[in-house]
Amino acid sequence: MCGIVGYLGNKDAVPILLNGLHRLEYRGYDSAGIAVIANNQIQYVKNAGKVSELSKLIDDSVINGSIGIGHTRWATHGEPNTINSHPHFDRTGNISLIHNGIIENYSSIKEVLSKKGFEFQSETDTEVLVQLISEIYYSDGLNFEQSVQAALNQVVGAYGIVAFCADEPNKLVAARHGSPLVIGIGDDEYFVASDASPIVEYTRNVIYLDEGEIVTITKSGYEIRSISDDRVINKISTEIELSIDQIEKGEFPHHMLKEIHEQVHTITDTMRGRIDPSDGSAHLGGISDQIDRIKSAHRIYITACGTSWHAGLIGKYLIEEYARIPVHVEYASEFRYRSPIIDNKTVVIAISQSGETADTLAAIDKAKEFGALTLGICNVVGSSIARKTDCGVYTHAGPEIGVASTKAFTSQVAVLFLLSLCFSRDKGPTGKNFSEALLNIGDHVKEILKNTKTIDKVADLTFKSENFLYLGRGMNFPVALEGALKLKEISYIHAEGYPAAEMKHGPIALIDENMPVVFIAPNDETYSKVLSNIQQVKARDGIVITLTDNKTNELKKVSDYIIEVPKANHPRIFPILASISLQLLAYKLAVLRECDIDHPRNLAKSVTVE
Ligand code: AGP
Repeated sequence: MCGIVGYLGNKDAVPILLNGLHRLEYRGYDSAGIAVIANNQIQYVKNAGKVSELSKLIDDSVINGSIGIGHTRWATHGEPNTINSHPHFDRTGNISLIHNGIIENYSSIKEVLSKKGFEFQSETDTEVLVQLISEIYYSDGLNFEQSVQAALNQVVGAYGIVAFCADEPNKLVAARHGSPLVIGIGDDEYFVASDASPIVEYTRNVIYLDEGEIVTITKSGYEIRSISDDRVINKISTEIELSIDQIEKGEFPHHMLKEIHEQVHTITDTMRGRIDPSDGSAHLGGISDQIDRIKSAHRIYITACGTSWHAGLIGKYLIEEYARIPVHVEYASEFRYRSPIIDNKTVVIAISQSGETADTLAAIDKAKEFGALTLGICNVVGSSIARKTDCGVYTHAGPEIGVASTKAFTSQVAVLFLLSLCFSRDKGPTGKNFSEALLNIGDHVKEILKNTKTIDKVADLTFKSENFLYLGRGMNFPVALEGALKLKEISYIHAEGYPAAEMKHGPIALIDENMPVVFIAPNDETYSKVLSNIQQVKARDGIVITLTDNKTNELKKVSDYIIEVPKANHPRIFPILASISLQLLAYKLAVLRECDIDHPRNLAKSVTVE
């Protein structure tokens, strides 16, 4: 996934574009570039590496103009070097384009253009698109926006693009098919971006482009049309709810740490107004029209990727326990290509922080094709998954900028708690205790954040380890998976999550005095079983790190370190709290290893390609 930004107005575009790229960097940071038009000529600077490196280059060059485009890249076609970075240009150097997505039929178009004498500088699909636009523009007598539209009607794939042309220098053309784009409308100035974060400090007035729309922006206004049939589309602008504080790190050294701390209120924000502790019921407006169909479903599939998939695994335990409906949890990337048993008695729940993950979107298409009811759990309001699903619930965790998901995960789990209460056929004392305990969660999170001494100590003593094992049972098996994923992502330490009892069927071979093993050992029905698993590791000299809300003498005897998790008044709260302790552990280990925590190598915040 890449970040794209465009500006047209009366100000110098360069600082606005650079600022926008800094804000969008979480979407990709392999390379970055900007281009502007000045004196009817395109000037550009682009470079492999981060936006900060691009800024340094720009400081040393004279580049300015009041119309421009900027891009920060997560490489798909071609290595992340300067030639492959965006913006890309046509052969005249008069047309430039930035792109997020993949042009699937680029090689056949490239072949046709090559036969006509076009030469290509980069290995990217994007350069093929800009050359195609150029071929149409300079031979078909169409104006620039018509040429872009004609080219887009020939391509197959996904894109969010912004393009401009030095021959029509006061015009930006942007289009969306599969990658989000927002238009910001200011006073005599316009912005285009992958999301609202580069726009919010200039204007709160925005329009979200929908799939298959193209917009032409000039100083006198904008016009939106349908790419396929050229229909003019009138859209009403909306106000962005985002604030600058939400997207800045503030006093924290990293977005990830800020987001870990925000969990003091985000989990409660997710549940606010949706839970009634007097009878343990939950009310979710976004699914109320479909609730009867959901309650009578024969099966539920939960589909998602990465961390969201881990939340889904926790959801399976909750929904099966409270609502007694069978739940299958599937990676969206697998589900989309399988032949799952889906009919109109099936509910497919898609979980996604960004709401833009390509595999999850495709899984929803598959579910719809077979007549299932689709339900989205998304953080980003108005995202593609939120719009595509039949009904849904927003997590309301606020913008998550850290590439490693933290607060979005715990809010997803909170929504799954709510869904399990909502789908539950019988309310009663269990639901009531559970909902009361859910509402007190913020205080427990505060406690975790206040007392990180043991986590710090464990990090100090283990940060040179190259492997970690995370073990848990029941609902805490997904917690182990998520703990291991967090560690891998930001510290590059190899880590595996396993069901604790499965350890003896293989992973036990890995255990020696150098292997830290994190056990998740709550005071619930799994306690004595986990204790036996710990003993098996201790007997083989593994380094035992135990997370528990039940620091017994037995546990003290077999653990090298005990990370205490606050005791909540319901056992099902423990997984959320344990996840937060594990986020902190991963964070501290990554700090000690001097990793780039908010920009882990090779990753991007959301994956909008297959
Ligand atoms: C989380 O830390 C990861 N960066 C990643 O696994 C992420 O959860 C996954 O790509 C799914 O993203 P989504 O929730 O935006 O769909």
